[in-house]
Amino acid sequence: MRCEAQPRSEARRTDVYVERAPEAATKQIAKRESPKVKGKSIVGMNLIETIDLKKTYSTGKNIETPALRGISLSIADKDFVVLAGPSGSGKSTLLHLMGALDTATQGAILFEGRDITNIDIHKLTTLRLHKIGFVFQAYNLISTLTALENVEYTMLLQGINRRTRRKKSIDTLQRVGLDDLIHRFPQEMSGGQQQRVAVARAIAAEPRVVMADEPTANLDSKTAESLLELMQELNMEKGITFIFSTHDPMIMNKAKRLIHLKDGKITPAA
Ligand SMILES: Nc1ncnc2c1ncn2[C@@H]1O[C@H](COP(=O)(O)OP(=O)(O)OP(=O)(O)O)[C@@H](O)[C@H]1O
Ligand SMILES: [Mg+2]
Repeated sequence: MRCEAQPRSEARRTDVYVERAPEAATKQIAKRESPKVKGKSIVGMNLIETIDLKKTYSTGKNIETPALRGISLSIADKDFVVLAGPSGSGKSTLLHLMGALDTATQGAILFEGRDITNIDIHKLTTLRLHKIGFVFQAYNLISTLTALENVEYTMLLQGINRRTRRKKSIDTLQRVGLDDLIHRFPQEMSGGQQQRVAVARAIAAEPRVVMADEPTANLDSKTAESLLELMQELNMEKGITFIFSTHDPMIMNKAKRLIHLKDGKITPAA
């Protein structure tokens, strides 16, 4: 397991394009070399990269909360990364920014080498739909849909035909141990069961990356372990990249790479 303080960026790419990126980040990207091998450009190996990412929430009258204070990190394709750190350290905020669910105050985010910091909302939605599965800290299941329909929903939006999406959804719900509950509505399930539906929804369509905000927070240790094993299998078998936040030492121990946050910054492990 790698454990780190500020990881150095090893970006090597030529296909970065910048739309209205903040000036400092734009300069940083522009400074990058574009290495050539026998006349061909090397395509970057990183799936996601953040450059001096900052997020400040503004609430009420002139109340500003700096949640991220300059995060620079690279997530390799097929990695299995855990974000750890005390409550309020910025884990959810970082996941939301990397998952294209929120926008940064400063800095830049590259996804597959492409600057997505300020791209058009429709392009962001398409990126999320096809490449990113997200498990929210509060599950965010649709209350009027059954477990099966919740899992199918992303594939419905992707235009996958009914038969395929139903089969994939049932298979995935079986893998998270919910075979008997597929026709239940979220309010008819326990917190842990809803959490497993949320995980099934994120992984069923086999996205490029799954981001999960404390995916085992409401599970007993046995269920948490089997869910983690499922994610490790998907990581190994299908090459899906996983990025989790957690307070759970069991998950931290299974990470290929552990990133500690404190007060919105990456810190060395405690
Ligand atoms: N929508 C928001 N509006 C205002 N402040 C926010 C908002 N979301 C988060 N914050 C603040 O940003 C900081 C980072 O919050 P964040 O939710 O990212 O922490 P976290 O590490 O995920 O914490 P936890 O382990 O409790 O989930 C905190 O100080 C929090 O109060
Ligand atoms: Mg959180």
